[in-house]
Amino acid sequence: MSQQTTRDVLVLPGDGIGPEVMPWALAVLKRAAADAGTVINTDDALVGGIAIDQAGKALPEETLRKAKASDAVLFGAVGGVAWDGLPMAERPERGLLGLRSGLDLFANLRPALLFAPLAAASSLKSELVSGLDILIIRELTGGIYFGEPRGVVTEDNERKGFNTYVYRESEIERIARVAFDMAGKRGGRLCSVDKANVLEVTQLWRDVVNEVAVDYPDVDLSHMYVDNAGMQLVRAPKQFDVVVTGNMFGDILSDVAAMLTGSLGMLPSASLAANGQGLYEPVHGSAPDIAGQDKANPLATILSAAMLLRYSLELPAAADAIEQAVDRVLAKGLRTADIADAESRTVGTIEMGEAVLAELEQGAQ
Ligand code: IPM
Ligand code: MG
Repeated sequence: MSQQTTRDVLVLPGDGIGPEVMPWALAVLKRAAADAGTVINTDDALVGGIAIDQAGKALPEETLRKAKASDAVLFGAVGGVAWDGLPMAERPERGLLGLRSGLDLFANLRPALLFAPLAAASSLKSELVSGLDILIIRELTGGIYFGEPRGVVTEDNERKGFNTYVYRESEIERIARVAFDMAGKRGGRLCSVDKANVLEVTQLWRDVVNEVAVDYPDVDLSHMYVDNAGMQLVRAPKQFDVVVTGNMFGDILSDVAAMLTGSLGMLPSASLAANGQGLYEPVHGSAPDIAGQDKANPLATILSAAMLLRYSLELPAAADAIEQAVDRVLAKGLRTADIADAESRTVGTIEMGEAVLAELEQGAQ
């Protein structure tokens, strides 16, 4: 009998539409991996609001332990109105932030790719976005989202809020290397985004990126202030290939870039550690307003499973097979409500998931 490779994936469906889209991503993941000779073992655990309700906190110890022991984590979404009133340190989002720091997932890859059949769904004119293919690389475990000290105190009879924007040069260097590597494998262009005209920490960012650039003579490096980058993204987005930036600027710019593609429901992401382990999640949130109604678009989570195969399991052909199956389903005119137009056939989560799985099975024959 031939030797089967087995890999362990921890599944964290979370809240809202997370549990609805996850079964399809898993079915597609297992099928594509099996076609490549790899068996995926899955286990699941609680995260987010459901973990608060059932285990008392957004990231139970057991979840983090299982995540650390896995080859990769597939994540749905967290949050919902039921938990909106909780203090910051207890909110469902803490589950995600805790996984990012607990697994040292410092490199967040957010592709903004326009699927040709969806050009009309963008908020920009289709000539500005057709063929759009940007990769935003966001530093994910440092910067102002994690900096200490932080808090709100009362001083001189008024409240004062503060956060700390801090980067060590080793943190900048490792994310810069990921970005140069990725740019080298794509269009060869890297734009580093900072606010070096105002913030010392981002002047250091710029200096370290320039120092790392010496090792990547084939990559064409440019720098841009974040305000200009926001403007350029909506003015002429195709000027960008790979963008690298810190945690907060990356959070904002990746939402802008996502909108250019027409639907948040289409966009996957990967958060990687230095050891190749990764957490894969759709860019969209838990969408409580449509949860439980068979309306959610499962494609972002399905495409996140493709990224998992590519980056953590090193099965690029299996990843390609999933992306091509999604392309073919869209080309046939199937759309969930978020990307529907007059000519398309609007389907629910289940029908979209079934269609991708069927295309994948056909593609393998
Ligand atoms: C994201 C989200 C998160 C972040 C929230 C939910 C904590 O906006 O992944 O972009 O700010 O990183
Ligand atoms: Mg965000």
